[in-house]
Amino acid sequence: MPRANSTQPGLSRWDERYAGEEYVFGTEPNGFLATVAPRLERGRALCIADGEGRNSVYLAELGFRVTAMDASAVGMQKASRLALERNVPLTTVVADLRDYSFGRERWDLIVSIFCHLPPELRRDVYRRAVDGLRRDGAIVVEAYTPRQLEYGTGGPSSEDLLVRLDDLRVDLEGLRLRTARETVRPVIEGRGHTGEAAVVQVVGFKQSSS
Ligand SMILES: C[S@@+](CC[C@H](N)C(=O)[O-])C[C@H]1O[C@@H](n2cnc3c(N)ncnc32)[C@H](O)[C@@H]1O
Repeated sequence: MPRANSTQPGLSRWDERYAGEEYVFGTEPNGFLATVAPRLERGRALCIADGEGRNSVYLAELGFRVTAMDASAVGMQKASRLALERNVPLTTVVADLRDYSFGRERWDLIVSIFCHLPPELRRDVYRRAVDGLRRDGAIVVEAYTPRQLEYGTGGPSSEDLLVRLDDLRVDLEGLRLRTARETVRPVIEGRGHTGEAAVVQVVGFKQSSS
């Protein structure tokens, strides 16, 4: 069952980071998601670890039926407020990805933006996410790679939490990857993401046999 109060070390620091009025990563969507989402078929979307909800609210504005989830109750409250301000429906769930149930073949789109997890958990989460996708459903991922440690413009400082394309190819095995690249781009998204950054970007689709 999803837990409202996580025991994963460091998670409560997100509540502290989100405690102010300001949206730490801004209220506009992630740049990569904004280039991809308009071309995807509308349906049920899940934004995992969506913090203060900027990506979820954006997808709702595009016409998706969106659920935002994050371990931070403070973040999810701000997501609800943003949805209200933008006059779009949004379901929020406060839960830890360690035991969040994606369901089976439930989602047309799953979005993971700057969701940095310990490797074992990351693999397990993406495996469950693939199970949770409907046939022809899509997953969109952007995350910082280990090269981001040289840029220092956002993201975790522990290499263990950073993600390589090769990792994602394994994690998302069975999906057809339409976009799969490591690149450097300016990520200027709120106070938390402040310049040139080394990222991995993936768009994958579930095929009939996945
Ligand atoms: C860098 S923020 C990204 C927020 C959002 N995706 C965005 O792009 O604005 C990382 C988020 O991951 C969430 N998170 C980290 N570990 C988690 C876990 N095990 N379960 C649920 N959320 C988690 C944190 O609460 C935080 O909101």
